[in-house]
Amino acid sequence: MAQLILPKEARPKKGKIWNKPAKTEGHEQNLQQIDIYRYNPEKIGNPTIDSFYIDLNDCGPMVLDAIIKIKNEIDPSLTFRRSCREGVCGSCAMNINGINGLACTTHIDELKGVIKIYPLPHREVIKDLVPDVKKIYEQLESIEPWLQSNRKMPKDTEQIQSPEERETLDGLYECILCFCCSTSCPSYWWNGDKYLGPAVLLQAYRWIIDSRDDAVVKRVKALEDPFKLYRCHTIMNCTQACPKGLNPANAIAKIKDEMILEF
Ligand code: SF4
Ligand code: SF4
Ligand code: FES
Repeated sequence: MAQLILPKEARPKKGKIWNKPAKTEGHEQNLQQIDIYRYNPEKIGNPTIDSFYIDLNDCGPMVLDAIIKIKNEIDPSLTFRRSCREGVCGSCAMNINGINGLACTTHIDELKGVIKIYPLPHREVIKDLVPDVKKIYEQLESIEPWLQSNRKMPKDTEQIQSPEERETLDGLYECILCFCCSTSCPSYWWNGDKYLGPAVLLQAYRWIIDSRDDAVVKRVKALEDPFKLYRCHTIMNCTQACPKGLNPANAIAKIKDEMILEF
């Protein structure tokens, strides 16, 4: 059962206030304060919120640019995930001013006041902005996210889909597994050990609906369980949180329709 209040030792305390960048002659500064959650498992004590100041006139436009600047120029120990910086790898997902999103596609100038950055919520933290998503990947593995076909595969050509069949995958194949949705879902917060959550269920539907896949009955049957699927209460946080504009809540509703059709 989920705990509603953070235990005392997990509550963040005020941390270090880092120096503002030095002024240089002839260069006008545009200072931005960025507060970042810090946790180091090798240090005893509560996590902290450190305050950094960067000059926006000397920084790229995205939140990820600011975080990389802080790591490169102020505190090299700041830890976070990132790879593509183009919104396609999903690794830079974090909570920015209270909203889950991708640091690399969030414009600094669209944020007001002090920017507050935390790791994705309701996951254990490995270090600083790095959440532990091992459980979600185990759940992803459990839905067998690969093509399962009984048909004789063509030898030298692709396995063809009609344009209409291919279209059914739109809104699903674009998922980058950033987990902004699952970590914003209250049902997943409370029952994340048993409920699969929106990201994994969207993936499940992506294979259920694929015209080339022959394991539909097995896939749907595997979800027939009071927790895996039916903990979704259509709160819709997931759909609001998705930085790729996908609709996991709709995919979950479609799985429920398949469930009625198949059984
Ligand atoms: S619609 Fe379902 S999956 Fe999405 S946030 Fe709500 S409960 Fe979670
Ligand atoms: S559905 Fe959207 S928010 Fe959820 S994992 Fe996929 S891309 Fe991320
Ligand atoms: S760095 Fe790849 S999605 Fe942000």
